[in-house]
Amino acid sequence: MKVLVIGSGGREHALVWKLRQSSRVTKIYCAPGNGGIAEEAECIAADVKSLESLIAVASQVGPDLTVIGPELPLMLGVVDEFTSRGWRTFGPTKAAAQLETSKSFAKEFLQRHRIPTAHYAICNSMDEVRDSLHHFHPPLVVKADGLAAGKGVVIAQTKDEAATVASEMLSGKMLGEAGARVVLEEFLQGDELSFLVVSDGERVAPLVAAQDHKRVGDGDSGPNTGGMGAYTTPTIIDDQMRDWLVNHVARPVVAGMKAEGAEFKGVLYCGLMMTARGPMVLEFNCRFGDPETQPILMRMESDLVEAIEASIDGRTSDGDFKWSSDSAVCLVVASGGYPGAYEAGKKIIGLEQAAKIDGVKVFHSGTSSREGGFYTAGGRVLGITARAGNLPQAVDSAYRAASTIGFDGAHYRKDIAARALKR
Ligand code: AMP
Ligand code: GLY
Repeated sequence: MKVLVIGSGGREHALVWKLRQSSRVTKIYCAPGNGGIAEEAECIAADVKSLESLIAVASQVGPDLTVIGPELPLMLGVVDEFTSRGWRTFGPTKAAAQLETSKSFAKEFLQRHRIPTAHYAICNSMDEVRDSLHHFHPPLVVKADGLAAGKGVVIAQTKDEAATVASEMLSGKMLGEAGARVVLEEFLQGDELSFLVVSDGERVAPLVAAQDHKRVGDGDSGPNTGGMGAYTTPTIIDDQMRDWLVNHVARPVVAGMKAEGAEFKGVLYCGLMMTARGPMVLEFNCRFGDPETQPILMRMESDLVEAIEASIDGRTSDGDFKWSSDSAVCLVVASGGYPGAYEAGKKIIGLEQAAKIDGVKVFHSGTSSREGGFYTAGGRVLGITARAGNLPQAVDSAYRAASTIGFDGAHYRKDIAARALKR
C-alpha cells in the first residue's frame, strides 16, 4: 500500500514514522515534508494552502491512502475533493472541520448538545462586545472566530483590555479575516488535557490522553505557542474519566454532527480544562495535535493503518488501539525569538548522539537538510521524544538528548511534565 502524508511538521514526522511500521505499507510519501522526514519518506514539494497543489501531488503519486496532518487543507475541503475523486483519505470534510475552523460554530454546537463548556458571547461588532461585557467578570478570554495558528486567544485581565483586543481583532488589524467575529469567554481554571479520539462518523476509539504545554516559558509564562512539549502516561486520567469523556464529550459530538448532517470522520481532538466543576471543552481540533501526537504514537502498539482504514470504512471500534504501559514525553526545541520573529538556516549539531540514547526518537518539526547536515527551517525545530517505563525516566532521557543538541538561539522549556512529576 502506498501512503501519502500531507504536512511538514513534527506531527507529520511521527505519522510517517508510525505508518512505516505497518506491514501493509510498502511506500510512503510526504508532501511537502521536511529535512528529517526525508530520511523516512519520499518528500514531494507541495503548497498545503492550495488544493490544486495537493491534487497535483496525489495525481502524480497515486496513493492508496492519504493522511492529512494540518487543519488548513481540511478547512479548504481536501477530504471532500479527494473523496469525490475516489481517493481514500483520512480526515473530516470541510463541513465537519468547522468544529475547529469556527469557534462560534463550535460554541453554539456545544450549547445545542449540552456538552460542558465555558459561558460565552459571540460578537460581530464593538456594540455587541460592549453589551456582552456586562455579563463577564475579569479575567476573561477573547478569541478570534477563525483559524489563527495559536495567536487567536488572549486572556484579558480587565474589561478595558478585552475591549481593546476585541476591537483590534474585529478591525482585521490583528488577524485579518479570522478576527471578523470574536467570542468572549469565561476564564476557566484547572489543568488542560488533550483527549483525542478517532471516529468513523458514528463510533469512537479513544487515544491515550496527553497534556500539552502551550506557553513559551517555564511555569506557563509568556505568550502562547503551537505547543512547547507534551507528555502521556498510563495514569494521566483513570479509566473512569476516560469513559466519562467518551460518553459525555466525544460520542455526543460525533452523534450531534451526524444528526446535523455533517458526519465527523477522522481525529477529533477535544481540548479540555479539568475544572472544579468537571471537564469543560476549551476547543476542538479536527486533526492530530502537535506535539501531542509524537508521545502518543510512541505508546501506540497497534497498527495505525488498520485504525485509519476502520474510520474510512465505517467500522471504528473501541478496541482499535493497543497501548504500551510506558510513559512518553516530547520536548520541543524552538528557534530564538519563537513564537515571535526568528531566523532560519542555523546549523543543528548533536543529533547523532541524541539518537543513541535509549528510547529517544527526535522528530523534526522545522528543518531542512543539505550536504548531509540539518538546518533550522521553522519556529518549532525539533521534537525530542522519549519513551520509558515511567515518566521520570522518559523526562530524563528527553533532557539528556536535548543537552547533546544545539543550534544558534535554540531554546526549550525546562519544566515539561514537571507538574505531573511533583504529584
Ligand atoms: P484555544 O485555541 O481555544 O484552545 O485556546 C488556546 C489556549 O488558551 C488554551 O489551550 C488555554 O490555555 C487558553 N484558554 C482558552 N480558553 C480558555 C478559557 N476559557 N479559560 C482559560 N484559558 C483558556
Ligand atoms: N497542540 C495543540 C494543537 O495541536 O493545536
